[in-house]
Amino acid sequence: MLKLLLFFNVIRLCLYSVDSYKILGIFPVPSISHQIVFQPIWKELSLRGHEVTVITPNPLNDKSLVNLTEIDVSFSYKIFIESNLQESITKDVPVNGVVDFIFTLMLNIIEAQLKHPEVQALIQDKDKHFDLVMVEFLNPAVYAFSARFQCPLIGMTSLGALLGGHDAVGNPSHPLLHSDFFLPSTGELSFFDRVYNTMYTIWYRYNYYYNVLPHHDKLVKKYIGDDLPYLGDIERNVSMLFINENSIFHSIKPNVPAVIELSNMHIKKKKPLPKDLQNELDTATEGVVYFSLGSNVRSANLSEHLREQIIGALSEVPYKIIWKWEDDYLPGQPKNVIIRPWLPQQDILGHPNIKVFVTQGGQQSAEEAIYYGVPLVGMPFFGDQFLITEKIANLGIAHVVNPETLTKQQLKAAIVEVAENSKYREKAKEMSALSLDMPLTGLEKAIWWTEYVIRHKGARHLRSPVLNIPWYQYVLLDVIGFILLVCLIVTFVLYKIILLGIKGRQKYSRHIKLKVS
Ligand SMILES: *[C@@H]1O[C@H](CO)[C@@H](O)[C@H](O)[C@H]1NC(C)=O
Ligand SMILES: *[C@@H]1O[C@H](CO)[C@@H](O)[C@H](O)[C@H]1NC(C)=O
Ligand SMILES: *[C@@H]1O[C@H](CO)[C@@H](O)[C@H](O)[C@H]1NC(C)=O
Repeated sequence: MLKLLLFFNVIRLCLYSVDSYKILGIFPVPSISHQIVFQPIWKELSLRGHEVTVITPNPLNDKSLVNLTEIDVSFSYKIFIESNLQESITKDVPVNGVVDFIFTLMLNIIEAQLKHPEVQALIQDKDKHFDLVMVEFLNPAVYAFSARFQCPLIGMTSLGALLGGHDAVGNPSHPLLHSDFFLPSTGELSFFDRVYNTMYTIWYRYNYYYNVLPHHDKLVKKYIGDDLPYLGDIERNVSMLFINENSIFHSIKPNVPAVIELSNMHIKKKKPLPKDLQNELDTATEGVVYFSLGSNVRSANLSEHLREQIIGALSEVPYKIIWKWEDDYLPGQPKNVIIRPWLPQQDILGHPNIKVFVTQGGQQSAEEAIYYGVPLVGMPFFGDQFLITEKIANLGIAHVVNPETLTKQQLKAAIVEVAENSKYREKAKEMSALSLDMPLTGLEKAIWWTEYVIRHKGARHLRSPVLNIPWYQYVLLDVIGFILLVCLIVTFVLYKIILLGIKGRQKYSRHIKLKVS
């Protein structure tokens, strides 16, 4: 115990005595779930005395953070909303269509951000110097900033990494064991699932390396400088990759040392609830269902049919409902349902009267529910939501319903089952204890490794040897080809010898026969 305490003190000492560095962060995705994971990192780095500049659509705008400069690109939300994501990627769009849609949308958004006068001023400023560039590791264009400022690059993700991210650090990404987060299958895969996953990874890589990367490369040559190295080479020069994966509900995988898993990044200290909510929750001794489909799926934009099924179910369950409903008016609002356009989700989940959380299955929502030991009903719509809801169902802390075919009876049954059957809550508490029992928090890990990369001007010594060999050698194509060839030649030679032997015998026996006659 004493040794352990000593160990932590040493770590804390390392954490709290540092030089001041200049750090540039670029987090272009206009979606709050892609920002709240990184906000604590840039805030903490600035509090530790580093001079931090961040390009983000969600600036903290906190005047007390004197060492933090935020370039506000919140106009990007307009482009994001106009793209009509919810409509465009839910209706039976095949997974490659979803991937294409998101990459094209983000290319447009990043172009708009690169054109932004403040961003251009930063790029053109000849005297500007940075010790580190940190980016969200999804959209390659932003990696070019590390080449522009000739400093190490750290990639981060707010959810699992895409295949291109794993490839860039040489991290294994087996198509069956660690299926991509756009693919729903987590449990045992059927033969056709395995064929599908394999074909998907081939398509994905083809599309990424021959379509996405070249487009992004063109973009940065236009807006950052045409003397930049090829974007694919900048990508593979990344020093470390911080992946926001939670081992509780992501599949366990081996990571190369350049990959650091963060988790529970956005979980904040519990704050008091607003008076009215506190009162509603305190008085609901029958229990409360918290209903929220997150920030990308607007409850108010659900189809009328689905909305009616949900309202039907909610009006019949014997609990109070708190629904994140982004409009003033809910048609046919039942008496037991309270609506609010925005809710302090974490603090609500921390209230003891919460029985069930009905969620779309976003990663951050799942982390918060597990953190507070609240069982869930999952209602996945797109992206990694299928994967996460399937996973939490397998853990025994959730029941999943399908919004495409949902009836009010199904939703009612699911809510009542999860609320009344104590095994869900017990399992959720067990998972909560597991997820909290960590030597360092995600934030502490992120800060320590960030300063590590700056101190050592990169992390070349952690680079996987996979990055130095071509892919066909990595998958042993040449070796397998050679062995097959040798086998073929040996078989052929043996065949010829046997054939000769048989012919020889036939000749011989004919010869004998002739002699006898
Ligand atoms: C700002 O940075 C300086 C050192 O660069 C540090 O001494 C100071 O505490 C920082 N202030 C805040 C509020 O983070
Ligand atoms: C890779 O990084 C090193 C140091 O961080 C830098 O000197 C080199 O130019 C980079 N190469 C590319 C292609 O970005
Ligand atoms: C979503 O609902 C809002 C009003 O709540 C409406 O203004 C908007 O047009 C709707 N969007 C879609 C795609 O239906």
